[in-house]
Amino acid sequence: MSTNPCVRGRVTGNSLAADPRSLNRLFGGGEELLPLWIAEPYVDLAEGIVEAVEARVSTSWYGYETRPREDIEAFWAWMYKRHEWDGSGLPTSVSPSVGTSIGVLIEQLTDPGQGVILQPPVFTDFKPLVTAADRTVIRSPLILSDDGYRIDFDDLSTKAAAPATRLLILCNPHNPVGRMWTADELARVAVICAEHDVFVLADEIHADLALTPFKFTPFATVVGDSGVSWAATHGPIKTFGLAGVCDTLLVTDDEKIRDLFRSKSSQLHLSRNNVFGMAAFQAAYRTGGEWLNDLLKLVATNVELLQDRLPGGIDLIAPEATYLAWLDLRQLNMEVPELADWLSASAHLALSPGHWFGREGAGFARMTIAAPTEQIADAVDRLTQAVAGI
Ligand SMILES: Cc1ncc(COP(=O)(O)O)c(C=O)c1O
Repeated sequence: MSTNPCVRGRVTGNSLAADPRSLNRLFGGGEELLPLWIAEPYVDLAEGIVEAVEARVSTSWYGYETRPREDIEAFWAWMYKRHEWDGSGLPTSVSPSVGTSIGVLIEQLTDPGQGVILQPPVFTDFKPLVTAADRTVIRSPLILSDDGYRIDFDDLSTKAAAPATRLLILCNPHNPVGRMWTADELARVAVICAEHDVFVLADEIHADLALTPFKFTPFATVVGDSGVSWAATHGPIKTFGLAGVCDTLLVTDDEKIRDLFRSKSSQLHLSRNNVFGMAAFQAAYRTGGEWLNDLLKLVATNVELLQDRLPGGIDLIAPEATYLAWLDLRQLNMEVPELADWLSASAHLALSPGHWFGREGAGFARMTIAAPTEQIADAVDRLTQAVAGI
């Protein structure tokens, strides 16, 4: 059987992938809505993973299970093979989710009231993780130039220099704008943060989703002798669509940071292993390469389709990474609520309206394009008809 999601893709059966309860809550439901808003692949998952989970189910034994060391080795073998990153010597911890890692490190490395820099428009969970901990969000927005999104390094320096600023959450590659930060850009971030003693928490959960010709640069590899303190989140959840079952990893070069993370994790009993998650994790890193190659080809095809066929008034900010298309709808001149309504009521699309990612996202929308090309073509047709009706 082919592992190509283009061939086997769930063309119409995505009501499950779309999480119908959220669809109702966020978009008012509706049969006619095409859901493309969650950041996960809307295609059949890798067969090797499904088989491994099914095999684990069939054992009829779901008690305590110790995670084998080979799991972490499989992750590092994967990283080396796909990204030429040999980090196997780095302290690597298991964490139930990226959000858990961020929440724990915010608590362990900062005090209430202190500042955490975010670079909006950026992934929606970061801000609530900061504010829920009574820390202050320090905004250092990305700049949208003719060449795409850029880090505003002057602004970052200024914000990092403020005495209360303790931490930067860096999204590498960046959700939702799709930038794959270059080694030079990351090295500048490292130098600025080192200078002002700001910890860099690099969320690298989309690392595997580099679109040709772009390459993922791990933050770890640019640190050099800058002296910056850092940790990075990894794991198979976004690449393979396993967020509902799987664990993630936290990598750092500092045993003190690892121990701080592990002590909280142990205090709160966050270290219980989910037997199905472990089966999925192992299978993903051992057998998922070909499936991922096919997924990346599918995403590239869908990017081309958007570039060729989006109607006038809607532009694609070409992604360098991730399976998220950041659509620029500012020419349609709609206010935030009007645009969100128009997308669902007129275009019959459930997309993430850009303002969810911060005020800089107003006038934009994020569409998941890890979906069968027919579905993306359908989405484009819906946009085209809706634009014609304005
Ligand atoms: C950049 C980024 N980080 C983290 C997450 C969520 O990770 P988790 O569900 O493990 O907290 C997402 C989900 O879309 C994401 O895009």
